[in-house]
Amino acid sequence: MNNGDVSQGRRRFLIGATSVVGGIGVVGAAVPFVASWNPSAKAEAAGAPVTVNISKIEPGQQMTVEWRGKPVWVLRRTPEMNENITTLDDRLRDPESQTASQPSYVQGPLRSVREEYAVLVGICTHLGCSPQFRPEVAPADLGPNWLGGFYCACHGSRYDLAGRVYSNQPAPDNLEIPPHRFDDDVTLTIGLDPEAA
Ligand code: FES
Repeated sequence: MNNGDVSQGRRRFLIGATSVVGGIGVVGAAVPFVASWNPSAKAEAAGAPVTVNISKIEPGQQMTVEWRGKPVWVLRRTPEMNENITTLDDRLRDPESQTASQPSYVQGPLRSVREEYAVLVGICTHLGCSPQFRPEVAPADLGPNWLGGFYCACHGSRYDLAGRVYSNQPAPDNLEIPPHRFDDDVTLTIGLDPEAA
């Protein structure tokens, strides 16, 4: 399990090196581990689900996890953030996510299994930059209509806090959502569907 703490993850790996199987993934910490494994373990880890302890994410905060070599954001949204998301439909390119890459069990404007949490692949659908997390409302550089979201500095694409792209942006699609499920209140597995799905 991943606690979202780089130094802790590193220690955990050293202690459990003989028994660890897959499932490690804070960006910046996982790469050295994978590089040191034997080829079969490496291949297994590349496609393996990643289990994350989300208990330390405060409302309004986001953590980044590596899954299949991609950054995956886990954002714990506040009620205000969710309210803002539901006001944005007419400013978005695909508010219902009809063309988005996402599992069938994340429908509606919030695009989530649990409304409080957004789980998004943090790669811009334009040319693959990693957008910035900009949760603040109406910051000077993004303007008075900004209600929090993700901003891609490469070519200026804007997404809301559900990863839905605004209209008339370089990015053609909403951010991808990976398969994921909540195993309990504080445990999220990325790469597996919910049992019922
Ligand atoms: S890569 Fe994000 S806007 Fe171009």
